[in-house]
Amino acid sequence: MHKPALTDKNIHPLLKNRWSPRSFDSRPVEADKLQRIFEAARWAPSSFNEQPWRFMLGIKGDETWDKIYDSLLEWNRQWAVTAPVLVMAIGSTHYDKTGKESDIYKYDVGQAIAHLTFQVMEEGLMMHQMGGFSKKKAIAHFDIPEQYHPLTVSAMGYQADPELLPEEFAKMEYNERRRNALNEQVFSGRFGQAAPVVE
Ligand SMILES: Cc1cc2nc3c(=O)[nH]c(=O)nc-3n(C[C@H](O)[C@H](O)[C@H](O)COP(=O)(O)O)c2cc1C
Repeated sequence: MHKPALTDKNIHPLLKNRWSPRSFDSRPVEADKLQRIFEAARWAPSSFNEQPWRFMLGIKGDETWDKIYDSLLEWNRQWAVTAPVLVMAIGSTHYDKTGKESDIYKYDVGQAIAHLTFQVMEEGLMMHQMGGFSKKKAIAHFDIPEQYHPLTVSAMGYQADPELLPEEFAKMEYNERRRNALNEQVFSGRFGQAAPVVE
């Protein structure tokens, strides 16, 4: 199933075709694909090149997958159960070099995930990010040190027929994709004033 963004201008096909399905095939993801996916994240830029991202990689059948799955909220568990890969993104709240608190680590981790997502698409896979999970459970399951915060879980894999999902979720696969207009997002002069190029 394809659900390309109805863009006003042409953009890169991988960005246009990315969306967040909930129907995943249980077919395993090849190791070399996973290696390239994490290599893409590795080369994301970050503040002071500190690379504050860490990932827990769960492959269905292993203990890490079970623990990540267990930390998901019930809503997400219902559909993520077939995902062959679950990835928990974790961020370092302090700079390693100076020990100072970072006010930007979530931005860096998000950017690494954006890189990773692009490679996921390039590999013919799909991904669905989730904020709906118990951070408390994640910390306990993986003995995450105090300096690190779990931020998101992503389900990854080959897409399956939406009709295989529970009815409620199957319907949602067909929901229209919407975005706010560019003139509500890109400003010049003062905050809130649309930049002429996007008016
Ligand atoms: C940080 C983040 C957290 C999200 N949390 C959830 C979640 O817990 N459950 C869920 O079903 N979708 C979740 N989503 C998916 C968003 O709802 C989805 O990306 C958004 O509706 C846009 O749809 P699209 O990705 O198909 O363009 C999350 C996405 C992001 C980026």
